[in-house]
Amino acid sequence: MCGIVGYVGNREATTIIIEGLRRLEYRGYDSAGIAVVDGGKTGIRRAVGKLRNLDKVLSEQPLAGTIGIGHTRWATHGRPSEQNAHPHEVEGITVVHNGIIENYLELRRALSAQGRKFKSETDTEIIAHLVASNVAKGLSLVPAVRATIEAIRGAFAFVIQSEHEPDKLVTAKNATPIVVGLGEGENFVASDIPACLAHTRVFVFLRDGDFAVLTRSGVEITTFDGTPVPVKPKRIDWSPVMAEKGGHKHFMHKEIYEQPTAVADTIRGRVSMEEARVHLDGVSIGDAQKLNRFIITACGTSYHAALVGKFMIESIARIPVEVDLASELRYREPVIDEQTGVLAISQSGETLDTLAAIKECRTRGATIFAICNVLESSIARECAESGGVLYTHAGPEIGVASTKAFTTQLVALYLIAIHLGRERGTLSKEDAQELLTHLREVPKQIESVLSREASIISIARRVAKARDFLYLGRGPNYPIALEGALKLKEISYIHAEGYAAGEMKHGPIALIDEKMPTIGIATAGPVYEKTVSNLEEVKARDGKLIIIATEGDARIAEIADDVFLVPKNDPLIDPIITVVPLQLIAYHIADLNGTDVDQPRNLAKSVTVE
Ligand code: F6R
Repeated sequence: MCGIVGYVGNREATTIIIEGLRRLEYRGYDSAGIAVVDGGKTGIRRAVGKLRNLDKVLSEQPLAGTIGIGHTRWATHGRPSEQNAHPHEVEGITVVHNGIIENYLELRRALSAQGRKFKSETDTEIIAHLVASNVAKGLSLVPAVRATIEAIRGAFAFVIQSEHEPDKLVTAKNATPIVVGLGEGENFVASDIPACLAHTRVFVFLRDGDFAVLTRSGVEITTFDGTPVPVKPKRIDWSPVMAEKGGHKHFMHKEIYEQPTAVADTIRGRVSMEEARVHLDGVSIGDAQKLNRFIITACGTSYHAALVGKFMIESIARIPVEVDLASELRYREPVIDEQTGVLAISQSGETLDTLAAIKECRTRGATIFAICNVLESSIARECAESGGVLYTHAGPEIGVASTKAFTTQLVALYLIAIHLGRERGTLSKEDAQELLTHLREVPKQIESVLSREASIISIARRVAKARDFLYLGRGPNYPIALEGALKLKEISYIHAEGYAAGEMKHGPIALIDEKMPTIGIATAGPVYEKTVSNLEEVKARDGKLIIIATEGDARIAEIADDVFLVPKNDPLIDPIITVVPLQLIAYHIADLNGTDVDQPRNLAKSVTVE
């Protein structure tokens, strides 16, 4: 949460920083700000709300200079206001910060007692005061920042500049992401790769406890206390256009359309059809025979992927799987031993609860591994030192509502299930070949769904004004009902609930009336008949029914008000396809209602706070 960009070079810093912030706006959009140092003076511009408000301020009061820092905020301490917007400046020291300083109240009290005056309600201003007071005692910037780090507790990634030493940016990381982009005669620092992709593809991923000083000529990395850390640059193969809308109205729409490619990329190179084997590069699930239990942990949409993963792994590899919300798992003293495999799923690899949950499990003896989309993210790194990481190849996901990350997570889970099934002997070569053949059909099948977007738009038009929705599914499509409901509520602000269809009669059926649309998923498979019976119960109470069913299902139209047919596949693969029309329904309802699809209110993409 919160996006940081810093630049030191020979070009106009404002242009580069604002462009970078635009790529990071998904991380927070309560306010934005920029500070540029020029001729030994700091110029600061800040505005409440989206970046376009800051653009307006800058067009009226431009800032020149070739070194600067910028920030887009997701408010934690202090409401969204110009005063609370970053950068925070004290005596020529400016700071942008992502994270939470836990001991800020006691530090604030101590600093106030020394006569220091605060202009904002934020924890970040503490950092600026601490550095400024260390500078006032005669320290230069780098030791002043090091001394500040000794005083603060909590999660932080910050970038600091000083008008007294206007040739350098200082950054440090603890539990919140920060990357350094390397250029020629210029260097960049940011919360995430897309911010600098237009200028460099060579990055250094700072680790917790790293401290970096960026100048025009280079980057020096040490630990907080000054021990040198070797600079190990990595080349990223994401291209700048991947972070553009490419003719789509919203990133979310573009990302829905990228799913055939993202799915194919996630399968590519990992499947040997001849041997019917899956190669999980980077992941060693240990001795698969000895693992007697899995815990999959995640948050939000990734948690829904985990729920589908339970069906896949239990059915194919016959290992019991528990699925736990990371925010719950981390605090409930889980029962874990060396035969427990713990799998984290995270698009960003930075979700704080997920990271904390796997750390807790690792301490208790579990092998931890991850499905992640972002290279070298905190979760990926934590797992690389244990069981390993299986990367989804979805490319950058910018829309706040997760789409292509979800479908590629499902693909990764299916690959893991087949791998485990083959290793444990629960899946024959022939059966594995059949499952893998089905998996390879998915990109084309998603394309077929996308090619019929017009009929989804018609459905969306008919229900766009409803205030409540119910989503029903059974088996592996139950988590898809949850995911469909989450997509709708987060981007359209319409109340929606996902339920296991069989649970209807235990309560939710009381909600049904002619005003409430129910979206049911009733694809071919072992629970088809049961699901249809549950949907009939909705119909019998005058409920409006939209049903996602399998091509060739002639019967479903008799009960449904609207039907959307998806190509037939294995029931365990179905969720990768059935979720796509639900993403599109949510997208179009939100768009018809005029909400901000890519940046819905109160949300941020990467949730690095508890
Ligand atoms: C919803 C959504 C969130 C994320 C959740 C976990 O569309 O995107 O619910 O799935 O915040 O994020 P990651 O996967 O980055 O750990």
